[in-house]
Amino acid sequence: MTLRVALGERSYDIAIEAGALDRAGDLLAPYAARGRFIVVTDRNIVPNQLHRLEISLTTAGIASAVEVLPAGETTKSWKMLEKLTDALLAYGVERNDTIVALGGGVIGDLVGFAASILKRGCRFVQVPTTLLSQVDSSVGGKTAINSRAGKNLIGAFYQPAFVLIDPTTLDTLPPRELRAGYAEVVKYGLIDDPAFFAWCEANGAKLLAGDPAARIHAITTSVAAKARIVGEDERETSGRRALLNLGHTFGHALEAETGFSDRLLHGEAVAAGMALAFRFSAMLGLCPAEAAVRVTTHITAAGLPATLQAAGIDATGKALVTHMMHDKKMEGGKLPFLLARGIGQTFLEKKVDLGAVEAFLDAERG
Ligand SMILES: NC(=O)c1ccc[n+]([C@@H]2O[C@H](COP(=O)([O-])OP(=O)(O)OC[C@H]3O[C@@H](n4cnc5c(N)ncnc54)[C@H](O)[C@@H]3O)[C@@H](O)[C@H]2O)c1
Ligand SMILES: [Zn+2]
Repeated sequence: MTLRVALGERSYDIAIEAGALDRAGDLLAPYAARGRFIVVTDRNIVPNQLHRLEISLTTAGIASAVEVLPAGETTKSWKMLEKLTDALLAYGVERNDTIVALGGGVIGDLVGFAASILKRGCRFVQVPTTLLSQVDSSVGGKTAINSRAGKNLIGAFYQPAFVLIDPTTLDTLPPRELRAGYAEVVKYGLIDDPAFFAWCEANGAKLLAGDPAARIHAITTSVAAKARIVGEDERETSGRRALLNLGHTFGHALEAETGFSDRLLHGEAVAAGMALAFRFSAMLGLCPAEAAVRVTTHITAAGLPATLQAAGIDATGKALVTHMMHDKKMEGGKLPFLLARGIGQTFLEKKVDLGAVEAFLDAERG
């Protein structure tokens, strides 16, 4: 199945298919006419998935080189950006070449940013290998590295030329990473698709167990939603794309509290953040309590944290709100919040009283 992100001359296709990685040589052939391929990946992907791409490219007669970086969030750094751009320049990368980001969101974000600045813009293709990157980060053109001041603060909007999604790459993904990515799948249901949330309630366990049909359905539904939202609001100016940040303001505070470490993965923080956003909406009387209970129940059933305690957070409301105030979305002392009127009825509220957030979080601490 092929989906498309409609952005005028920056439009691109997203191929979603079990086994697509083994057909990469065919699917990417249009980009090989004049240039070479440089595959950038991380050390965990080398033993698990890299050979599939290499065999496919070689069989199709496409010359390629490989650059392997360390795995993990710390790879999204100035140091690794320098190492990568130096390596690509040493290789003699030209504008007709294609840089292939084979990996999760870390590789995708770093490689996309490197491609955006290298020779003022080189072509790049996303081949996401984690559930999070397949349903979220590989589509939409947000690229970034982290800096001392915080996560994703140095970056650019730079769209890939093509996205190749092969759900079978998830076979080698650690289960905890798979669950974390699932939080972003559930997010699309909660934003504006109640029928998809109901599908998640019925089929989430199957998906997490590796059921191929459930995997394809979840990925295509999520990517279609993301492609549509990005097509409507590429640079997050109209508020439409901001809906994708559901659970992320609370989640960001939890990630900051745990030092953006393995103690709490991004998707785990988003899972807890979405449950908190629904319970906060219920507390404010915006949303029925039953909706918040459904969200909390499903997130817990998926093996994800839905409470501060389950996320291993013991901080005060004040400490968590302080983290939120460093969020890059702060505007004139106010933080826009995504709240809900029900399942699939998320909206952006710009006037949330941070005192109320603090009191809510203290009550959640119990
Ligand atoms: N650009 C965006 O729009 C956007 C959106 C959401 C998140 N992000 C970013 O994405 C990053 C997180 O991405 P992620 O969750 O994919 O993490 P990740 O890239 O660190 O991958 C998670 C782990 O799984 C390993 N791995 C990846 N694929 C594998 C496979 N198929 N088999 C075995 N191991 C595999 C990786 O080496 C890593 O250890 C964060 O930096 C976040 O800021 C970006
Ligand atoms: Zn996210």
